[in-house]
Amino acid sequence: MTAKRVHIKIFDTTLRDGEQSPGCTMNQQEKLRLADQLDRLGVDVIEAGFPIASDGDFESVKAIAIAVRRPIIAALARACQPDIERAWEALKHAAQPRIHIVLATSDIHLKYKLRITRDQCVEQARKSVRFAKSLCDDVEFSSEDATRTDPDFLCHVLDAVVEVGATTLNIADTVGYTVPAEFGDLITTIRQQVKGIENVTVSAHCHNDLGLAVANALAAVAAGARQVECTINGIGERAGNASLEEIVMAMRVRPDRYAYETGIVGEQIFSASQMLSEITGVPVQPNKAIIGRNAFAHEAGIHQDGVLKNPLTYEIMTPQSVGVPDSKLVLGKHSGRHALSIRCEQLGYQFDRSGLDDIYRRFLRLADNIKHVEDHHLFELIARQSGRL
Ligand code: KIV
Ligand code: ZN
Repeated sequence: MTAKRVHIKIFDTTLRDGEQSPGCTMNQQEKLRLADQLDRLGVDVIEAGFPIASDGDFESVKAIAIAVRRPIIAALARACQPDIERAWEALKHAAQPRIHIVLATSDIHLKYKLRITRDQCVEQARKSVRFAKSLCDDVEFSSEDATRTDPDFLCHVLDAVVEVGATTLNIADTVGYTVPAEFGDLITTIRQQVKGIENVTVSAHCHNDLGLAVANALAAVAAGARQVECTINGIGERAGNASLEEIVMAMRVRPDRYAYETGIVGEQIFSASQMLSEITGVPVQPNKAIIGRNAFAHEAGIHQDGVLKNPLTYEIMTPQSVGVPDSKLVLGKHSGRHALSIRCEQLGYQFDRSGLDDIYRRFLRLADNIKHVEDHHLFELIARQSGRL
């Protein structure tokens, strides 16, 4: 009998933190379309926006709260009454609403940005969570810049918000500063020191300024976090957020290391990525893990030969498992005969050995001059060989 895996909640913030990345703004209709896809994808929580930020954001959150019924719908608010009231106004029709309060806790943010003392910070956190709790059962508290906060003070703030009813504590690496071992230790400290921690969910929110967002999120999970905040294609402020598809597939491909499960329907990942890219007009980098154009493409002859004999030689997951239509052999100057003959077969042409040698010579001459040999080039080569051109 296999042991039941621990469930990790996937909190998708593509529509809030993701939308904050340059060039990624979306209108209400686009947000609704994406929220529907996130629902099909199986995320546990959709952070639909920041209602106080603009009337457009407010209306989008409200429309999603009304239309998308399965997941929890969250909305962001700073730790003050007007923000919380506005968030609640937008959320109140949701089947499962969540108010998400954020307050910075690091000395640098308290001194230069908020201009408040540590004591004032604790009081503001307590007061805002208490107020949110009077409106909504499900209240998440985020400590902004938690990874640059004195850990003892951080635990003190978290004690206060748990006491007044916070149900999720989100530990934000706002500036992408931490590294996996350190972040894991911080989550362990919080789990050991915060009073009442056993009754709340610990969450990780990681940014990618050092390219470590996914590694940090996974370290947090290994240390006991049970929610990760992430975005499709890893979009988000500056270098982005932890990428949903990478976190989920790391757990799925390496259950020996990450014995967790999520509700994500892998086959919907590629469609979500494509939809986001189509809506924002921001392309996915070709070598992006899991969903980049090259993630399942093989150009080197040795690799192509191996993949054609058995995909497991060079693919650690199937393209179908993340919804990518098929493994794509890219034909270029490094490609071998085997890949060329397979593609020609797919186009309806079969060659004997000398015919293949001939077409392969022509192909290499062409590939020396262009990056990728496309199907229309092959048709032309085949036509020349047969004397039709
Ligand atoms: O990066 C951050 O600190 C945030 C908070 C709102 C969680 O996005
Ligand atoms: Zn963020």
